[in-house]
Amino acid sequence: MLYPHCVVYEKFSDCHPLAIMSKLILGIDTSCDDTSASVVADGKDICSNIVSSQESIHRKYGGIVPELASRRHIEMIWPVVDEALQSAKVKLEHLSAIAVCHGPGLIGSLLIGCSFSKAVSFARGIPLVCVNHLEGHIFSCFLGDKQPEFPFLSLIVSGGHTSLYRVDGFGRYKELGRTRDDAAGEAYDKVSKLLGLGYPGGPAIDSHAQEGDRGAVDFPRPFLPESLDFSFSGLKTAVANYLKYGQPVSVNDICASFQQAVVDVLVKKTEWALRKERVKRIAVSGGVAANSALRRELGRLAAEEEVEVFVPSLPFCTDNAAMIAAAGYHHYMIHDTAGLDLNPVAYLPL
Ligand code: KG4
Ligand code: ZN
Repeated sequence: MLYPHCVVYEKFSDCHPLAIMSKLILGIDTSCDDTSASVVADGKDICSNIVSSQESIHRKYGGIVPELASRRHIEMIWPVVDEALQSAKVKLEHLSAIAVCHGPGLIGSLLIGCSFSKAVSFARGIPLVCVNHLEGHIFSCFLGDKQPEFPFLSLIVSGGHTSLYRVDGFGRYKELGRTRDDAAGEAYDKVSKLLGLGYPGGPAIDSHAQEGDRGAVDFPRPFLPESLDFSFSGLKTAVANYLKYGQPVSVNDICASFQQAVVDVLVKKTEWALRKERVKRIAVSGGVAANSALRRELGRLAAEEEVEVFVPSLPFCTDNAAMIAAAGYHHYMIHDTAGLDLNPVAYLPL
């Protein structure tokens, strides 16, 4: 061949321009009820992000039915990955690695993502890396133009987790506090069920709260002042008791008052952690990071304390595979690859 180097360019002809110069990671997340695949360049630039939601399947049961979730993942995994590659204009041979979430999550759901990723990795000789779902949420704040510098405080608020971490670098995470019972998103979902607002509860309560009076009902604020832990199950019970025995007020007022109690606790604990750890940056992630009141109040805290707040754009707060690819990039760069004996783990600490 006259110009052997042309082979390299042929491989990348008609593909995403980032593919030539960057490390492209295919992220896969099937930890809960959404099938998601994404192509991310260099841990930050999103080339594609496809999420197939199962909301319509689970809504009538008022929560996720694990067996139905696994079955739907099996149907959707290949179409979703195919669409992620196509819309990023890349082929499997352009990828540096496949990053798959192996836990924590629903074991049957995780199994689909892991088995699929191992099969593609083996068949096409693509390195495989595994990512903890919580690490993915932390790295969702790296997607986009501006990345937080280390150290920073990470507040993860989702349907399964409410935790505060100090992050000193990739792989250097110190847990400062976590929920002792319900996660914040879980409290939203349960209160929404009590109010007949359906699943998922967060977006429904958030929108009703916009029309309500946040001072209408004085719900308890579980501050647990001796620690940076959280507790939301008593607040949920307080709402249930109020609905049974309290003065009648509108659904909008209940939503606004409940939301204010949750946000007050999340913001106060973040403020305490900032002072204790003396860091100047906060990164917030997880489904509840989409909450309008939380985003507003954290903005206010940032201005008061003169710290920077990093919150992903709305599609990257809730579960997505771009965050798995973003964290997976760092695993790949330090050659922290997984073998074909990789197994999913339902309870996986960070
Ligand atoms: O991160 P995520 O998609 O899944 C888990 O890893 O759990 O978070 C889902 C949670 C649900 O509980 C949902 O009700 C909540 O995030 N959520 C919200 C909002 N949007 C989603 N909670 C409050 N306000 C929102 N706007
Ligand atoms: Zn999540």
